Amino acid sequence: MIDFMLNGQPCRSEASPETSVLELLRETLGVTGTKEGCASGDCGACTVAIGEPGPDGELRYHSANACITPAHQLNGRYLVTVDGLAQGDALHPAQAAMVACHGSQCGFCTPGIVMSLFTLHEQQRQAPAPLTPQRLEAALGGNLCRCTGYRPIRDAAMSMDSHPDHRPLWLDAGAPRDSEANKTGLDLDASFLQPGSLAELTDCLARHPQARLVAGATDLWLESTQRLARFERVIDVTRVAELNVVEEAELQDGRRGWWIGAAVTYSRLEPLLEEPYDAFAHLLHRLGSQQVRNRGTLGGNIANASPIGDTPPVLLALGSRLRLVGPEGERELPLDDFFLDYKRTALREGEAIRAIFLPRPVAGQTLKVWKLSKRREDDISAVLGAFAWRMENGVIRDVRLAFGGMAAIPKRAAHAEAALEGQAPDAAAFRAAREALAEDFQPMSDVRGSAEYRRLSAANLLERLHLVIAQAETDSPREVMLHAYAH
Ligand SMILES: Cc1cc2nc3c(=O)[nH]c(=O)nc-3n(C[C@H](O)[C@H](O)[C@H](O)COP(=O)(O)OP(=O)(O)OC[C@H]3O[C@@H](n4cnc5c(N)ncnc54)[C@H](O)[C@@H]3O)c2cc1C
Ligand code: FES
Ligand code: FES
Repeated sequence: MIDFMLNGQPCRSEASPETSVLELLRETLGVTGTKEGCASGDCGACTVAIGEPGPDGELRYHSANACITPAHQLNGRYLVTVDGLAQGDALHPAQAAMVACHGSQCGFCTPGIVMSLFTLHEQQRQAPAPLTPQRLEAALGGNLCRCTGYRPIRDAAMSMDSHPDHRPLWLDAGAPRDSEANKTGLDLDASFLQPGSLAELTDCLARHPQARLVAGATDLWLESTQRLARFERVIDVTRVAELNVVEEAELQDGRRGWWIGAAVTYSRLEPLLEEPYDAFAHLLHRLGSQQVRNRGTLGGNIANASPIGDTPPVLLALGSRLRLVGPEGERELPLDDFFLDYKRTALREGEAIRAIFLPRPVAGQTLKVWKLSKRREDDISAVLGAFAWRMENGVIRDVRLAFGGMAAIPKRAAHAEAALEGQAPDAAAFRAAREALAEDFQPMSDVRGSAEYRRLSAANLLERLHLVIAQAETDSPREVMLHAYAH
């Protein structure tokens, strides 16, 4: 039983484990304002807002793609759809601005765009901040419009504040609701299990080692919408308290850093990364769309083991570790040992990722991350290079070069690393490293890029690294360029 608030009204409904929020709305509840375009999280037509109480008890809304959000994850939450925004003839500012700026033509994308604007409006109310082009791009980057063009939509976003603030009163609906499921405790035989603690999670894993784990569902739910998979039993890790924290820690080898809970979303992670690793934070701005970042997790990205997942190469370059949990207890392993073969990992049946260790940068260490994709916004990598190193007395030390899109798994370039370790950052060392890439990778061709494109791009990323390091060493970009092109 799913027990939630829909546009200010209590709502209870039965649903099979793989039912999406969109299916629940349109097919079970007959609430049809939310549209289905792609059913894969790519177009944003199905955008809704989901509210959860923040630490102060006030509801915080985030945008989500209803097509790939499991309906059961609504339990105890506050769902807002486009159907609920207007109060009679009084339009919400997001709607009024879209009308005034002629932001809609065929109208198919409009409900999703209005809901992305609604979420932005709510965030502005709670924490007013200048609406920079970057914030607008982030808020709307996951909403495609095929006919209106984006300028009127952007104008609507910029002018929301000039319209009367007709917000439905139920948006501020007070204290957290206890859903029936929460009151009666965890039923270990339910088909959609929502453990709230690590102890409950291990009970679930012990009882159902073959159940599918789900976090943000931004990968897993495509199996249901694109391949029509049916899930007999699902364990939702998003409410496990211990998987939602970020803790400072020191490893046995003396490295300091943070254990990041596997269910921490990208939206939560982004601001935490800015200080230690701005290159990593910047990568997250380009991972999926706002809707995807609001729900997707580091744990899901790693466990999914896609060769083109964005974060594994970065974490490999930084020397991350994983903490895994299962009915037999916990174990730790380096991320280097996690990816075994295409989509095959060291996770045993009945195990889950509990946390990911992100080391603090050591003195003099630099991280660079370059993602190559066809579009800047909301696109998967063709090739991604993540490079960490430090300079010591003019030579490169502790260099770790990891790539996505170059092999069946995210992988370090061991031969190229060996060519650079202990070397001065000169043209000869980087030529050797580029040549060594041929021993590290035999990439394949697919829709995102040919093998040749990938080979060349990876080599070019190493050349870019050369220029960056040499520039930092000489502090003279002109000299570096002349030097590079002389070779
Ligand atoms: C429109 C769109 C754009 C995207 N763009 C990008 C992109 O630019 N870059 C990118 O890298 N990815 C992208 N993705 C893929 C996806 O968003 C990420 O891989 C995301 O990190 C998955 O996290 P999740 O929490 O949603 O995982 P889920 O879909 O919930 O799970 C993914 C897999 O991990 C398993 N799993 C989840 N949590 C755990 C755990 N704690 N322990 C063990 N197993 C677990 C699940 O069983 C499943 O097999 C995109 C997806 C969409 C829909
Ligand atoms: S229908 Fe396209 S993102 Fe959901
Ligand atoms: S108005 Fe037609 S797709 Fe946007």
